[in-house]
Amino acid sequence: MRMAGLWIAAFSLLLCSSLSGVEGIGVNYGTIASNLPSPDKVIALCKAKGITDVRLFHPDTAVLAALRGSGLGVVLGTLNEDLARLASDPSFAASWVQAYVRPFAGAVRFRYVAAGNEVVPGDLASHVLPAMQNLESALRAAGLGGVRVTTAVSTSVLGTSYPPSQGAFSDAALPSMGPIASFLAPRSTPLLVNVYPYFAYSADPASVSLDYALLRSDSGGGAVVVADGGASYGNMFDAIVDAVYAALERAGARGLELVVSETGWPSGGGGAGASVGNASAYVNNVVRHVGSGRGTPRRPGKPVEAFIFAMFNENQKPEGVEQHFGMFQPDMTEVYHVDFTAASSS
Ligand SMILES: *[C@@H]1O[C@H](CO)[C@@H](O)[C@H](O)[C@H]1NC(C)=O
Repeated sequence: MRMAGLWIAAFSLLLCSSLSGVEGIGVNYGTIASNLPSPDKVIALCKAKGITDVRLFHPDTAVLAALRGSGLGVVLGTLNEDLARLASDPSFAASWVQAYVRPFAGAVRFRYVAAGNEVVPGDLASHVLPAMQNLESALRAAGLGGVRVTTAVSTSVLGTSYPPSQGAFSDAALPSMGPIASFLAPRSTPLLVNVYPYFAYSADPASVSLDYALLRSDSGGGAVVVADGGASYGNMFDAIVDAVYAALERAGARGLELVVSETGWPSGGGGAGASVGNASAYVNNVVRHVGSGRGTPRRPGKPVEAFIFAMFNENQKPEGVEQHFGMFQPDMTEVYHVDFTAASSS
């Protein structure tokens, strides 16, 4: 990531002031909406704001074309609907790579291909590892072995998440997570994990501290600290990340790293704590926190890479908070201001 950040810095005046300790910030570019700007406008907006990476939930050739020459790092997801075929049919994986990666690879800085999003545990879980294997073989055959293959999971893979040191995969998730971790670890490819303190807070606002969920307690807003053996946690973001690290260690995958592929807070939609002010606080605190390079108590000094969910409010998502995770309105005005450059000034 340091190298990626340096490379981006050459392209972005916004980042030139801090060449040391550069740590970028990504966004999720979701498109479940009827009114979004054209991809070239969206990519220009990302660059203008100092965003360094984007995650796409599915391949879209118009978006990939707009990413050409942008210098942005790209995480490219597969549709969950394609997992079974990617897993069972190597020629389908090969044509997927030929259609969506190969034509763009010279000009788009692909970082990871993510086979599926949040399907473990569940009916599609058994397809994830074979899909990853077929995609990896297809990328290698196309001369694109530098694009690494992983998957994105939600924290529903955890059976135990508290305290963080006791983190463990559930019995339902372990049969998938163990082999996936064994695939990723020797390749030094991170697992992607979606981290949402918001849902923990909104499910039980009476007993979960809002300051702890919003990463406000360690910046002097309150004194909520969770002690866990020798470690102490000032925010839930770190506690969730470390619970997944503990689960991976327990499953035998010690060296495996995590990338936070989604994290965010809704600015409306009726849920507890869903407001512009809280969303602004959460996202700006996360950007600053990951930019500090402090890491988490379990991985001190190991910068956490994170992708904010999401770029836009998406009007064709289910009603309620789901439509209100965007940092930008579809007309590209800010729902609230985010200082993305805080991610690169340590
Ligand atoms: C954050 O959410 C809490 C709980 O719903 C609410 O009382 C508070 O006003 C919100 N803060 C801001 C700044 O919007």
